[in-house]
Amino acid sequence: MENLYKYIEEHSTRQTEALEWIEKQTHIRTNHGRMLTGAVQGRFLKMLVEATGPRNILEIGTFTGYSAVCLAMSLPENGHMDTLEINDELEDLILEGFDRAGVREKISLIIGDAKESMVRLRKEILEEGIRPQYDLVYIDANKREYPEYYDLVFDMVKTGGYILADNVLWDGKVCEDPMPRDRQTLGIAAFNDMAAADPRVESVIIPVRDGLNFIRKIH
Ligand SMILES: C[S@@+](CC[C@H](N)C(=O)[O-])C[C@H]1O[C@@H](n2cnc3c(N)ncnc32)[C@H](O)[C@@H]1O
Repeated sequence: MENLYKYIEEHSTRQTEALEWIEKQTHIRTNHGRMLTGAVQGRFLKMLVEATGPRNILEIGTFTGYSAVCLAMSLPENGHMDTLEINDELEDLILEGFDRAGVREKISLIIGDAKESMVRLRKEILEEGIRPQYDLVYIDANKREYPEYYDLVFDMVKTGGYILADNVLWDGKVCEDPMPRDRQTLGIAAFNDMAAADPRVESVIIPVRDGLNFIRKIH
């Protein structure tokens, strides 16, 4: 599997200098380098934005800003992205990465609990009408909370828009028999079941890295 990943990486377009910087700093300044989206999936996210042309993006789970930069890089001049992160110690690193990548003006970093932030954003979009709905949402925060994120975010997404969720294969644990009963595996499995059974969407799980659930809101 490692050989396969190496081959894929070597035969995909290299990451930019700014992303290389974020990756390096993540390893130096945090103990959680494994949480990074990484070069291959990051390139996929960037190209997906180019292919689907969103103007407004929401990211749930910024970490050090790697995927945020990948998503924001291809946003148009008038495009905007909100990204939610609970760990305020990451703020300086995130913002420096956004500066280096030249995307700082396009992104609002919202520090706080994702569900609380989403309740506020929902109100501003659905009740007060002071923000547009999102065209694309990338879910990558607390795995236990994926089903709640799905419920909270659904009405904030335009019909025809996309919800992408990362780590939906969870190292294969979601299809082990018996399935492990830890709360993260249960959260992700419940999320995948919800999307698969939801007549308002079409969805496909793409086995890139740890699995991306690619969901389109059709109703
Ligand atoms: C897998 S990492 C995100 C990786 C990032 N998307 C990337 O590719 O570089 C998950 C992030 O979600 C954040 N997180 C976890 N629970 C959260 C919550 N309740 N609200 C907001 N952020 C949360 C964590 O602090 C962590 O930085």
